[in-house]
Amino acid sequence: MTAYLDHAATTPMRPEALEAMVDELARHGNASSLHTSGRRTRRTVEEARERFAAAIGSTPSEVVFTAGGTEADNLALKGLFWARQGAARRPVVVTTSVEHHAVLDPADWLAEHEGADVVRLPVDAFGRLEVGALHEVLDERTDDVALVSVMWANNEVGTVQPVAEVVEAAHARGVPVHTDAVQAVGWLPLDFLASGVDCLTVSGHKVGGPVGAGALVARRGLDLTPVVHGGGQERGTRSGTLDAPSIRAFAVAADRAVAAPQVDAPRVADLRDDLVRAVLDAVPDAVLRGDPTRDGRLPGNAHFTFPGCEGDSLLYLLDARGVECSTGSACQAGVPQPSHVLLAMGVPEHEARGALRFSLGWASTKDDVSALAEAIGPVVDRARRAGLSSAAARP
Ligand SMILES: Cc1ncc(COP(=O)(O)O)c(C=O)c1O
Repeated sequence: MTAYLDHAATTPMRPEALEAMVDELARHGNASSLHTSGRRTRRTVEEARERFAAAIGSTPSEVVFTAGGTEADNLALKGLFWARQGAARRPVVVTTSVEHHAVLDPADWLAEHEGADVVRLPVDAFGRLEVGALHEVLDERTDDVALVSVMWANNEVGTVQPVAEVVEAAHARGVPVHTDAVQAVGWLPLDFLASGVDCLTVSGHKVGGPVGAGALVARRGLDLTPVVHGGGQERGTRSGTLDAPSIRAFAVAADRAVAAPQVDAPRVADLRDDLVRAVLDAVPDAVLRGDPTRDGRLPGNAHFTFPGCEGDSLLYLLDARGVECSTGSACQAGVPQPSHVLLAMGVPEHEARGALRFSLGWASTKDDVSALAEAIGPVVDRARRAGLSSAAARP
């Protein structure tokens, strides 16, 4: 049996969502068609929109369905940037150094193609935004700032960001705020309206829905220039025939997931605490990264660096023993890169190379933790012995 400890990458579909998706796949109809099948499909989509909006604390008209979190982040960054250029140019995009690439890369694209001036704010040793640095930028460049984008919680080390403080600081200067809440939805109490953010990204496959579904929740009246042009769906903000099966399943999953802060989150946080203890018992010099407090990090996240090891070697050794996890960072052209998140937290590159992220989700059990507890000690020993012998063999 496999112990799946990579729920932050993608989590299994919830049975209710799978059932809804299969049922809808068996039907047909384009939500824009005027005949009976089209109108039925439209009703399905609008019911899903209402259900999703209720789960996230928005009104249905504030929901723009997309094909996932990456697309929603692109719409937020580019759409807000373009909409904020008028007679006065506002070139500054303020974000953090620990965002997901779905935010960092559109920001860099805007720098390269649209002359944006991207400010990546620093974080502390836990990966938490230095809010003072945000105030400094906003004070110095008040009239030049197009938008601020700060994630709700980090996908690698799980650190929760001070989004309320970000909203207060940005709104005091009339600057809109986007937050990538992909990892937070379903795990932290989150209400779109109460949060005050102007737009917020959600991804289907992180809440137990399908891959390739997502949404940008954008407050009423927020000006967003479309990125995808075509048939004018989603009030012209995001063209493309609506994917009714995915949207229906996504809404079911999100609805189930938002009960989690009360139900699943404490259970999963307890499992995570057991996991952290087990890893530190087996490998006493492993270093837990991110915020060590229970409230400061996502309930399902445990992230470590293992001195003297390469994260990808540990990953393959664990995989061979039936434990699936992640190094947390991206591979570029097959070459493992030290995580930009860890480097931004001040972790030296040689330590950042030994990173592993274990992430738990709605389907996690004690057995998953026990499997890791058994495997991690021998795996780290083996990786270290292999590392020493290859170092000794080097001329
Ligand atoms: C924080 C964060 N943002 C965005 C994404 C991208 O979402 P999607 O896979 O739906 O495109 C991910 C996926 O890992 C993520 O963790």
